[in-house]
Amino acid sequence: MSAEPTDRVAGLKLEVEGAVATVTLMRRERRNAMTPSMWRGLAQVPGRLSGDVRVVVVAGDGPSFCAGIDLRMFTPEGVPGEDRGLSPSDPGFDAQLAGYQAGFRWLRDPAIVSIAAVRGHAIGAGFQLALACDLRVLADDAQLCMKEPALGLVPDLTGTKPLVDIVGLPRAVELCLTARTIDAAEAARLGLAERVVPAAELDDAVRELAKELQTADPAAARATKALLAHAHERSLDEQAVAERAAQARLLQARPADQQVQPTQAVSG
Ligand code: ACO
Repeated sequence: MSAEPTDRVAGLKLEVEGAVATVTLMRRERRNAMTPSMWRGLAQVPGRLSGDVRVVVVAGDGPSFCAGIDLRMFTPEGVPGEDRGLSPSDPGFDAQLAGYQAGFRWLRDPAIVSIAAVRGHAIGAGFQLALACDLRVLADDAQLCMKEPALGLVPDLTGTKPLVDIVGLPRAVELCLTARTIDAAEAARLGLAERVVPAAELDDAVRELAKELQTADPAAARATKALLAHAHERSLDEQAVAERAAQARLLQARPADQQVQPTQAVSG
């Protein structure tokens, strides 16, 4: 993290308290609608984090987590201060989108656990931002909607994979193509929320979860997250091999005076 505990970049606020960094979307007057500058700003955040940060909270200022892309991007006037972006026929179009996606992808880094703190609307790019995080804590007023197909777009900010991984293909198809809004209770039933709390308790609930997540030994937490993240693409045999290799790496990297004793290992 930068020397300053609070940092601002492109409509984002970055705060650090101990091992917890909080990135807040700061466009409350637009329900935190996002622009390409904000996606590029998000991509810069990991470069500002020190190795001491273990949990990253993503939140929105005001009543909505995020109302998706700033729809003025699709108007002839555009958004003041934002460039129009490249057209799909431009050879740089793919790299441009990859740059936007980078703002979402770092949230899966095994070195951190990311938590989306969602109150109110999480629409389109906002839903994808919540999906980009490892965990989601929802206020009971949360409303999630994958709006892109209804607007003639595909969700392209890395949201489709976590959505399918969490809710399964049929439900993902239904949610995306109907663009219906799901409330916090349904989100919890679908596995899209680890916790649902009264709106007034969202910040406290996220703070508590961030604290609980730091119970694990940092190196073990990192190795475990990496192991879990690849489990679905491996067979049981392959995952068993990966577990053994990860354990060996973890134990070898630990100083001799901090080795886990066999009795501790057996008792967990
Ligand atoms: N882009 C630009 N401005 C927005 C956006 C947006 N996505 N969302 C809200 N705003 C602005 C509104 O225009 C309004 O501005 P104004 O005060 O100058 O009129 C202000 O934020 C407040 O919005 P309201 O609509 O008044 O707030 P309300 O609480 O009634 O509704 C809601 C919130 C449901 C989020 C509504 O604003 C909305 O439907 N926004 C558009 C959502 C959307 O379709 N996003 C694109 C998804 S697809 C994608 O992200 C790729």
